[in-house]
Amino acid sequence: MAKAKTAYVCTECGAEHSKWQGQCIECGVWNTLSEIVLQPAVKSVGAARNSGYAGAAAGAPKVTPLTAVAQTAELRTLTGIGELDRVLGGGLVDGSVVLIGGDPGIGKSTLLLQMLGTIGAQLPSVYVTGEESLAQVAARAQRLDLPLAPLHVLAETCIERILEQAVSTRPRVLVIDSIQTIWTELLTAAPGSVSQVREAAAKLTRFAKETGTSVFLVGHVTKEGGIAGPRVLEHMVDAVLYFEGESGSRFRVLRAFKNRFGAVNELGVFAMSEKGLREVPNPSAIFLSAHAGPTSGSAVMVTREGTRPLLVEVQALVDQSSLGNPRRVALGLEQNRLAMLLAVLHRHGGVAAYDQDVFVNVVGGIRVQETAADLPVLLAVLSSLRDRPLPEKTIAFGEVGLSGEIRPVPNGEERLKEAAHHGFQRAIVPRANAPKKGRVGDMEVVSVERLSQAIDACR
Ligand code: TYD
Ligand code: MG
Repeated sequence: MAKAKTAYVCTECGAEHSKWQGQCIECGVWNTLSEIVLQPAVKSVGAARNSGYAGAAAGAPKVTPLTAVAQTAELRTLTGIGELDRVLGGGLVDGSVVLIGGDPGIGKSTLLLQMLGTIGAQLPSVYVTGEESLAQVAARAQRLDLPLAPLHVLAETCIERILEQAVSTRPRVLVIDSIQTIWTELLTAAPGSVSQVREAAAKLTRFAKETGTSVFLVGHVTKEGGIAGPRVLEHMVDAVLYFEGESGSRFRVLRAFKNRFGAVNELGVFAMSEKGLREVPNPSAIFLSAHAGPTSGSAVMVTREGTRPLLVEVQALVDQSSLGNPRRVALGLEQNRLAMLLAVLHRHGGVAAYDQDVFVNVVGGIRVQETAADLPVLLAVLSSLRDRPLPEKTIAFGEVGLSGEIRPVPNGEERLKEAAHHGFQRAIVPRANAPKKGRVGDMEVVSVERLSQAIDACR
């Protein structure tokens, strides 16, 4: 194939250069130029412009009132894996492009192969592997006890040849494992580089939209936590799902980070087993660790990620620091939020931690993004600092404001019911979330308006 015309674009400022160079002339940043394929200009549009707008290109899109747009329901197919369908927003949409990111070895290939197995003959599929040999994929499918008949596999990394095969075999689902191994003949850059990944993903997206094929792209996550290569990949696709979990834990969480067809922050929970991933349809209490007795530095919160309440334990370790600048480490929570909460604890709770190292961890490798975690995090920190366990069988949730107020969070009643259902006896929650009679079932509900009241309630 003739080499296409290419240019080099700065990923920082977007400036175009005809030749590669180490530094962008426009913004002066180093090592940001990446090669792109230049598309030939569409002639008809140029012609319409030259003719003074009159008689614009035939068949060109026109401005349309939304009321005149026929509403067609999205065509969805259930994959047969309930937790995956939930995260996708109720099944797989025809012609959608879904990016699944996660650390190497977390289980992305296993999940997708299992999905193709359960979709089975319902939707013909092709699994393209750029990382493993056909024999390895076959061995994996056998180990997972998948029906082998509906599985079609292609070991190929050149995007042009993959699309050639896809056009002739016409799958309805195409899995690319992984996008970092795919390259196009049009570019000279190495596979895995920003320009190759972007160009390959662009071709696959076009293919998905034109043929109605659902495409899954597997992407590895870098040390910084982004999907290797360009952020731009996340803009091109319809949905971005992250597959997460601690290496030591057997639980895996699939989270929607972006979804054009459903809610984000929806969680799918899986447990790893010999036979692959098993769904955990009722995960509410799996993220609690089993302590023999009361332990200092531990607090249980009820978060609501997606549409289900989850009971999650947060642990804190506060220790005298030998550093001039004590450490603040937050795993599963936002680091900046922890620093802010410690400042509120000092100013409005009268508890200083400026000479202490503070480590906070959410148990089970789960990541909590909502502000309802504020109060339990502070209570865990306080408990570790004082080396005094929180009262037994207690849960907490609530957002902590900068002036020390405890603010309500959505779905308070549902969270309280879930905690009561799991046998908790005491809840420390924002006043607006507390029921009037001060109880939910057998659980006593202590309502607080200020941080100082929450601290008093833990004595
Ligand atoms: P794999 O799916 O290859 O991870 P990724 O594609 O994200 O790199 O899984 C990694 C390893 O873990 C593989 O050797 C299989 C094993 N594994 C299980 O034994 N059971 C499971 O449920 C999963 C998900 C993985
Ligand atoms: Mg893999």
